[in-house]
Amino acid sequence: MRTLLALSLSLSLSLILLSISAILTNAKFSEQSLELQSAHRADKVSHLHFYFHDVVSGKDPTAIVVAGKRNAFGMTTIIDDPLTEGPEPESRVVGRAQGVYTLSAKDGAALVMAMTFVFKEGKYNGSSISILGSNQYLEAVRELPVVGGTGAFRFARGYALAKTNKFVVRTGDAVVEYNVFVMHH
Ligand SMILES: *[C@@H]1O[C@H](CO)[C@@H](O)[C@H](O)[C@H]1NC(C)=O
Repeated sequence: MRTLLALSLSLSLSLILLSISAILTNAKFSEQSLELQSAHRADKVSHLHFYFHDVVSGKDPTAIVVAGKRNAFGMTTIIDDPLTEGPEPESRVVGRAQGVYTLSAKDGAALVMAMTFVFKEGKYNGSSISILGSNQYLEAVRELPVVGGTGAFRFARGYALAKTNKFVVRTGDAVVEYNVFVMHH
């Protein structure tokens, strides 16, 4: 009887301590944001379409190899590539793709890309979309995840479909068509 009482006392005590620590944890580290949650339910879905110009050749490249051997496993390239409305290089610039890609497959058939599309046009001026994923660039259409965004693209989730529009074997320059489907705040 006494042991039972002692047991139930210590149980209630640990429950109280647990709830106190839960309250403290919730208050300090995380809490549900009902305000943001209700706004978040009104997600918009946007479809963005543009062309990515990866210029590795010439006097003013927008993609530079910073590590590894050219076209070999480990080759790492930093980019600040223009994004344009149409496929021609003179087409209107709507933003830039800034980030890094690395040849991450031993057979050289895939890149891991970590980049941000920073937009410069219209209502998306100053907003950005972050992309992180594997690009099996020999495939006709590659899918990359949208992992986040800023500005108009807060809470972004979605995917990007990349399709090579033009690739010049001699120079290595490429134009890639992007269709981005993004749910955001
Ligand atoms: C985008 O925003 C920047 C900074 O506010 C501004 O200087 C620029 O003119 C804007 N561009 C367009 C196309 O609206």
